[in-house]
Amino acid sequence: MHTIDMDLVEMTLDVMKYTIDRISNITPEMGAPKKEDELFRIVGETVTPEGIGGENAFQLFRDVLVKATVPIDHPRHLAFVPAAPTRAAIMFDLVTSASSIHGAYWMEGAGGIFCENQAMKWLVSLTGLPEGAFGVFTSGGTAANLSAMVAAREEWRNRDSQNVGKKALLLTSNGAHSSIQAMAKVIDADVVMIDCQKENLTGQELQNGINELEAKDRNRLFAVVATGGTTNAGIIDQLDTIAEVCEKEKVWFHVDCAYGGGALAAPSVRHLFNGIEKADSITIDPHKWLFSPYDCGAVIYKDLELAKNAHSQKGAYLEIFKDEGAQGFNPADYQIQLTRRIRGMPLWFSLAMHGTNKYRQAIETGISLAQIAARKIEKRENLELVRPASLSVVLFRRKGWSPEQYRDWTYKNHRDGLALVTPTTWKKETVVRFCFINPDTTDEDIDIILDTLN
Ligand SMILES: Cc1ncc(COP(=O)(O)O)c(C=O)c1O
Repeated sequence: MHTIDMDLVEMTLDVMKYTIDRISNITPEMGAPKKEDELFRIVGETVTPEGIGGENAFQLFRDVLVKATVPIDHPRHLAFVPAAPTRAAIMFDLVTSASSIHGAYWMEGAGGIFCENQAMKWLVSLTGLPEGAFGVFTSGGTAANLSAMVAAREEWRNRDSQNVGKKALLLTSNGAHSSIQAMAKVIDADVVMIDCQKENLTGQELQNGINELEAKDRNRLFAVVATGGTTNAGIIDQLDTIAEVCEKEKVWFHVDCAYGGGALAAPSVRHLFNGIEKADSITIDPHKWLFSPYDCGAVIYKDLELAKNAHSQKGAYLEIFKDEGAQGFNPADYQIQLTRRIRGMPLWFSLAMHGTNKYRQAIETGISLAQIAARKIEKRENLELVRPASLSVVLFRRKGWSPEQYRDWTYKNHRDGLALVTPTTWKKETVVRFCFINPDTTDEDIDIILDTLN
């Protein structure tokens, strides 16, 4: 029998109090980074042979270190892709840790994997992929994109032995997320970027891009990556015509919806994703627009067996997991990681508690906030939209400003604890970018930020 350590009980109460206070506070203090030596001067050495004590370490975290971070769920955090995990999901993240579940194989993780699979079933249903399609939760969009690319290349090599040993090539558009190039590097594949003439990649442009490849490169083409909501502007590629070209050309069709995937649940924009149901694989990040805490991505495959061929690990000590007696769904077989956190559990709990309708509403709120912001921008003399709001992203210019003025404005708002909004570039021009995720952001929050652009 373990004895109960009273210090641990007190520590747990402190941690729970902090957690409850933090998640009840919808406008937490907007922290800002400090230089490392400055932080060290305040907190000192924290890892010592004797330890500094839990109370002390926790106090340093609560009073100093967390203040040097930006709460991603602040309602005026509109930079990058923010996040807004539900309170239920955050609390269940604690439960996920406390339950110590190994998420690689059904033999050890059955009950937890069951929860994940319930949430996954809903995600898959949003895509419209045919019966048999399924997926797994990953550490994020990057790992999901990588897992899909590995599966695609394996299928291409298994299909034709002449492809074995050939350096593979994928086609994507200039709107694709940086992780596509980065992950192509990991698998040593080449990337050809199609420069979209309008705003999104179309089937015709893809076909032209394929036709323009030299024969030796056409023979190396193993996948096309389309984007279901570009990170910079919220633009969705023309998935239905791209799907037709991929089918005709017999190349793997991957759709990166890491940011935009939540919008599959939003009736107002669902039609923009038509064609996604023909994808071979899809990335969706619940830690972006599905209100999960970090880190939680997902990769979904039309044909799970193809993913298993690529990812299933073999090892003498692992054979028991594949035995009859341990049968069930093994997440390790479908993505790059072996030992894994049951990271889909917080999403499952939150979905189970709130129901999927609440998710639909919260995602529609993000889309509405972008439309509201766009209308407010149009009414202000010194501001101008550079393109219509798309999904939950709005791009606009402050007339007459130089890139340096946008940068200074970002830093000032951050320093003042008012907002974190960063500039981006659109067609080589520096502009402001809003990305809405948090349904607690208000009209007034938008006005407060716009007023700083006077
Ligand atoms: C479209 C898209 N793909 C991939 C990623 C990478 O995802 P992660 O940061 O979760 O690895 C992002 C991140 O913003 C994204 O927006």
